Amino acid sequence: MEVERTIWWDSGICTIDQTKLPESYEIIKIGTVRTLVEAIKSLRIRGAPALGAAGGYGVALAAHRSTFMDPESILGELKIAAEMIRSSRPTAVNLAWGVDRVLKAAQAASEDGEEAIRSRALAEAERIADEDIAANRAIGKIGSKQLDDGDRVLTHCNAGRLACVGWGTALGVIRSAVEEGKSIEVYSCETRPLNQGSRLTAWELSRDGIPVTLICDGAAASLMRQGKIDKAIVGADRVTEDAVFNKIGTYSHALSAKANQIPFYVAAPISTFDQFHLEHEIEIEERSEDEVLSLNGKALAPKGVHARNPAFDATPIDLLSGIITEKGMFRPPLMPFIGSGLAKTARL
Ligand code: MRU
Repeated sequence: MEVERTIWWDSGICTIDQTKLPESYEIIKIGTVRTLVEAIKSLRIRGAPALGAAGGYGVALAAHRSTFMDPESILGELKIAAEMIRSSRPTAVNLAWGVDRVLKAAQAASEDGEEAIRSRALAEAERIADEDIAANRAIGKIGSKQLDDGDRVLTHCNAGRLACVGWGTALGVIRSAVEEGKSIEVYSCETRPLNQGSRLTAWELSRDGIPVTLICDGAAASLMRQGKIDKAIVGADRVTEDAVFNKIGTYSHALSAKANQIPFYVAAPISTFDQFHLEHEIEIEERSEDEVLSLNGKALAPKGVHARNPAFDATPIDLLSGIITEKGMFRPPLMPFIGSGLAKTARL
């Protein structure tokens, strides 16, 4: 039976193993911080908002598994766990954000004893998960205004419910438009090398009965030029004042959309915004070259050939038509860093 949430707590962290889709639908239960770190690195859990929830639940897990009896020692253990989880993937800001939020809640509870640390850490993690679904619903409602009946919409990677706790960001906008009665057709880029677009986005949308056509990443520009795409919408792993970080290939699609006068939107919750850094300061995760050189153990290139495998790219903010958040849609360069002093703010 399929579950409503991608990640939830049941005496441990439960999640859908995304590396197994679409062949099989398997729920795994994560009982240690070490297994959580492995699950994040191997993309069993993936997508920025889902990583935010995983980070939060991970700190709660560390608190629940701690055998220490005094608050100070538990907090010491939590700090180590937090660092292990935070550093498991560097680009999606939600991971560190989720970890830090729950760590802070645990620290604030320490005067009330070890049981308070455990229960308040878990309560904060549950709040992150609940808020994610509410934010995605709001993003959907705001973003669906940008989609017209009959639109053919391009997306890249998976910014659906599997990438979040539920509903989805980019796919959430599409889902909301469909819920409002609009007919939407999705062009999903397969998203080499790990094929989140074909394995996950196409799986999710076909489950929902939303028409989806799979294309090779390299086909997107040409389809845009032929007038077969009306709009593009993707998610984000991090939004800085000057760029949006998302799955590798996003930048190429944004350039193609600009060249063909096609609106290009990013849908992301405020938890994906990083008001403290600029593009050049962000680490882009470089994954193993094996992901590019082979598929299911079969070589895709001659022996001895090397590959580069950056997992994300940065799209300059001025290529975007709008960033859809739960607080409204913002048109770059006017970003919602309200009160930060780093950027001007204005809502459309
Ligand atoms: O490497 P992944 O699969 O974690 O990359 C995910 C993406 O790039 C998503 O587009 C992004 O996290 C937004 S998810 C709502």
